[in-house]
Amino acid sequence: MANTINVAMVGQGFMGRSHSNAWGQVNRFFTPPINAVMHTVCGQEFEDPQSFAARWGWQNGSTDWENVVKSADVGLVDVVTPNYMHAPVAKAALAAGKPCACEKPIAGTLAEAREMAELAKKTGLDSFVWFNYRRAPAVALAHQLVRDGFIGEVRHVRASYLQDWADESVPFAWRFKKELAGSGAHGDLNAHIIDMTRFVSGLEVTEVTGAIAETFVKKRRIVDQDSGGGIQLTDEQMRYAKAGQGEAQFGEVTVDDTVLFLVRYNNGAVGSYEAARQATGNQNANGFEINGTKGTLKFNFEKMNTLTYYDATRPRAIQGWTEIMCTHGGDHPYVANYWPDAHIIGYEHCFTSMAYDILLKLAGQTPTVPIPDFEDAYQTQRVLEAALVCAERKAAVNMDEVR
Ligand SMILES: NC(=O)c1ccc[n+]([C@@H]2O[C@H](COP(=O)([O-])OP(=O)(O)OC[C@H]3O[C@@H](n4cnc5c(N)ncnc54)[C@H](O)[C@@H]3O)[C@@H](O)[C@H]2O)c1
Repeated sequence: MANTINVAMVGQGFMGRSHSNAWGQVNRFFTPPINAVMHTVCGQEFEDPQSFAARWGWQNGSTDWENVVKSADVGLVDVVTPNYMHAPVAKAALAAGKPCACEKPIAGTLAEAREMAELAKKTGLDSFVWFNYRRAPAVALAHQLVRDGFIGEVRHVRASYLQDWADESVPFAWRFKKELAGSGAHGDLNAHIIDMTRFVSGLEVTEVTGAIAETFVKKRRIVDQDSGGGIQLTDEQMRYAKAGQGEAQFGEVTVDDTVLFLVRYNNGAVGSYEAARQATGNQNANGFEINGTKGTLKFNFEKMNTLTYYDATRPRAIQGWTEIMCTHGGDHPYVANYWPDAHIIGYEHCFTSMAYDILLKLAGQTPTVPIPDFEDAYQTQRVLEAALVCAERKAAVNMDEVR
């Protein structure tokens, strides 16, 4: 087997930067069986992919992703575009015989997600979805503790992913348009916590009920420059904005600002999910609390190096919450590859660790922490879809209905 693989990445926005960092760092912090080579980044004309390539260490920049993913030089395609482009790019990559890594949610629609999963299965190629929070050492530890019986039988899963960046001053972008994003906070944030809680608890949702979807800001101003936070206007939006010649133009928001729902799981446990972009004061509060018969685990990404554990098997007199700093090399996954113990890591390390696990899997080895493939991410997408159907129908949805 060759000991290098040429990566082509499609998209050069927020995730384009975080993945570039990961592909650039992975061979330094880890010793993967196959080294990643940053071969080509693809962006849109106005973004100047050549300059991006030079800044972030790609050998080439291109505006022609269709030819790049087919190129014989490329060994792995990494998709970091808006959601509506995940399926076309990933399917083109798989059809060209290339393993494919794709950002979350796997797709804008359930039908696209299913097609991607079916094609990955048919081609037998490796596929990966960047549910990066699985690779926070605290989350990986929670997964292991549940498997090792530390909290007993799971009864409750309480998950929320709360942000507060999307008040009415934030301009229109692809994230606010259903055709481009699929959904709003739901696909963006609930996708993460559905994956994370499936991963940690090992449970599967059997029924979704009580879903509410709401859009508070129904129109947003269209501008001809980037809004902060990596939100990137599409070509179409740029043209629309420029046509306004300074006059305020507004785009209609066709996705949710928040979605909440309740679930039942296959072991009889129950759960709740909430995604919000206007939960003032919560900047990236991505977390869960999982209560079992013997204990509880809590995680909040705003304090990502810590896992909170309650051990209900201890004598009652000394029971209490334990804050575990997940920063010990050897005891906590990935940590030994970064800094000495307790020199904490951040958001970007989850991506670098995922790049390492992708390279392990491509070499036929077992990833440090399980990676969701397209089939696994399709199961997360089914739960997303069930919640939207439930909100629309105002009645419970059995997961068997959602395929
Ligand atoms: N895992 C995470 O923590 C996380 C965080 C943010 C976003 N995401 C996901 O990553 C994906 C990208 O989000 P983002 O925030 O980076 O968006 P972004 O708007 O910042 O970047 C999107 C990029 O795709 C490019 N693109 C769009 N159409 C293209 C085309 N036809 N050809 C080539 N390039 C094209 C844009 O030009 C831009 O470079 C989304 O699926 C999003 O849900 C994941």
